[in-house]
Amino acid sequence: MENAGKVLLNAGNLWKSYGKGEAKVDALADVSLQIYDGELLTILGSSGSGKSTLLNMLGGMDKPDRGSIIAGGKDLCRMSDRGLTDYRKKNIGFVFQSFNLIAELTAKENVAITADIEHSPHIVEEVFEMVGLREKMKNYPSQLSGGQQQRVSIARALAKNPQLLLCDEPTGALDYETGKQILVELERLVRKHGKTVVIVTHTQEIGKMSDRIIKMRNGKITDVLINQNPVSAESIEW
Ligand SMILES: Nc1ncnc2c1ncn2[C@@H]1O[C@H](COP(=O)(O)OP(=O)(O)OP(=O)(O)O)[C@@H](O)[C@H]1O
Ligand SMILES: [Mg+2]
Repeated sequence: MENAGKVLLNAGNLWKSYGKGEAKVDALADVSLQIYDGELLTILGSSGSGKSTLLNMLGGMDKPDRGSIIAGGKDLCRMSDRGLTDYRKKNIGFVFQSFNLIAELTAKENVAITADIEHSPHIVEEVFEMVGLREKMKNYPSQLSGGQQQRVSIARALAKNPQLLLCDEPTGALDYETGKQILVELERLVRKHGKTVVIVTHTQEIGKMSDRIIKMRNGKITDVLINQNPVSAESIEW
């Protein structure tokens, strides 16, 4: 693990419940974890185990009922909504299963609206270069394959130059080969560009390419595994 050691995010004793009385669900029940700078981390767990809830908290999209998430010396859980929005914009890139691209905008425009193009036009080209999609920048989402759309959404996530990329089922809507290409892309961002990438998935095999694997069940972390010899994304099969 390159750059290992520095803690990027330190989450302590996170609790989050939904509903009341009989219907109350502890989506997170006393979850603590650290995310290290430059690591590739996989969060595994069955449906409903709390993975997305956790990812959203780490990205400042939602706040826990209790607990703390320390990033850059500040506690996200105690920030104002505006402070949190600001933090998110500067530090976090999100990649979703469903791409979330705007159909009426070209690939380039989808990224540019995030990047604030007037101030940094070169950034858009740079991030398309990073995901190997420069030649498709003028296409609309409907003119792109699923894998290419997901690469646009990764480019968009990268546009603000965040250190941390949070990916919720990034291969969930893709066929096997295309999903694998996206994993290769995410791996490159860590190994070549020094980013920190968290991948939430149901697919156990994805853990083999990661530096660490966290397993969740019923809102709790049940296992933290360190993978001393991560294999290349290219070589994993599921
Ligand atoms: N907004 C919400 N309102 C009510 N319950 C919720 C809400 N969000 C999540 N939950 C509940 O919290 C629990 C954890 O949900 P979460 O979405 O984090 O699971 P997950 O591990 O991401 O599942 P999946 O793999 O299906 O995406 C589930 O029981 C879910 O029903
Ligand atoms: Mg989920």
